[in-house]
Amino acid sequence: MTAAPASTGFGRESGQNPQAAPAPATSINVIDVANIEVIYNHVILVLKGVSLSVPEGGIVALLGGNGAGKSTTLKSISNLLRTERGEVTKGHIHCRGERVDGLTPNDLVRRGVIQVMEGRHCFGHLTVEENLLTGAFIHGSKRRQIADDLEKVYHYFPRLKERRTSQAGYTSGGEQQMTAIGRALMSRPTTILLDEPSMGLAPQLVEEIFEIVKNLNEQEKVSILLAEQNTNVALRYAHYGYILENGRVVLDGNAAALRENEDVKEFYLGIAGEGRRSFRDVKHYRRRKRWL
Ligand SMILES: Nc1ncnc2c1ncn2[C@@H]1O[C@H](COP(=O)(O)OP(=O)(O)OP(=O)(O)O)[C@@H](O)[C@H]1O
Ligand SMILES: [Mg+2]
Repeated sequence: MTAAPASTGFGRESGQNPQAAPAPATSINVIDVANIEVIYNHVILVLKGVSLSVPEGGIVALLGGNGAGKSTTLKSISNLLRTERGEVTKGHIHCRGERVDGLTPNDLVRRGVIQVMEGRHCFGHLTVEENLLTGAFIHGSKRRQIADDLEKVYHYFPRLKERRTSQAGYTSGGEQQMTAIGRALMSRPTTILLDEPSMGLAPQLVEEIFEIVKNLNEQEKVSILLAEQNTNVALRYAHYGYILENGRVVLDGNAAALRENEDVKEFYLGIAGEGRRSFRDVKHYRRRKRWL
């Protein structure tokens, strides 16, 4: 299948062939996860039938508390599970209609799907720019092209340009998160799996990073699957959301509808029916999720 995707992704050329027909309004999703089960170490059952889709050009949020299975879901898609003795034992995963479970993480990156790991892994002893350059190595681009991609990253992350020669290990948490996202961009992705970009960052920086993610989505047409505990910020930027609890999707819907959902408000946004109030004021018997 060689149908031209509607989104070209970061750094990928578009409109090279003026004769080419406009991309059809295809309903093929960039990611389709169907009913997957994941087991770690042959015994620990973590995902119990998770299904989700990321449409072309969409921002999809995967929400849930600690240990819900968000990172495991992302790693199942990017095929990083095996490095942690995890295995998809049921269900399947498609990327633009092509089955991808069983491929290597490299294969996925070559298909334009890359994960930014939780905890903003940077090479601490390398400079910010050297970190970014490690992301370009996968497609063996020409020097010129790499320089252009680098400028594009600096366009989206002006702070990184200022810190380009600083050792990454000594930059702030926000700058390291930006470096991790910037490095992923250097692989020219069409889809980014972004794991907890807000983790450990001050609210203002979280907002700054989400604004950049939104710009990348709108201007570079990069599709995003975002794992977040920060429901509030994620639902303001995402178009669609899935709520994961204990390895199962318990609720999904348009971000606007989820923001208005009484259970989501009460259990994830900290707002009870009659407006903002302390959790201590809410009688225990009332605090029962309607989806369980
Ligand atoms: N390598 C592993 N081996 C065994 N169990 C694991 C492994 N990685 C994760 N788990 C378990 O799988 C469950 C889901 O973990 P996961 O990291 O996917 O959750 P999460 O939703 O990303 O949580 P957090 O918000 O804390 O990052 C947890 O119970 C965790 O202990
Ligand atoms: Mg996680």
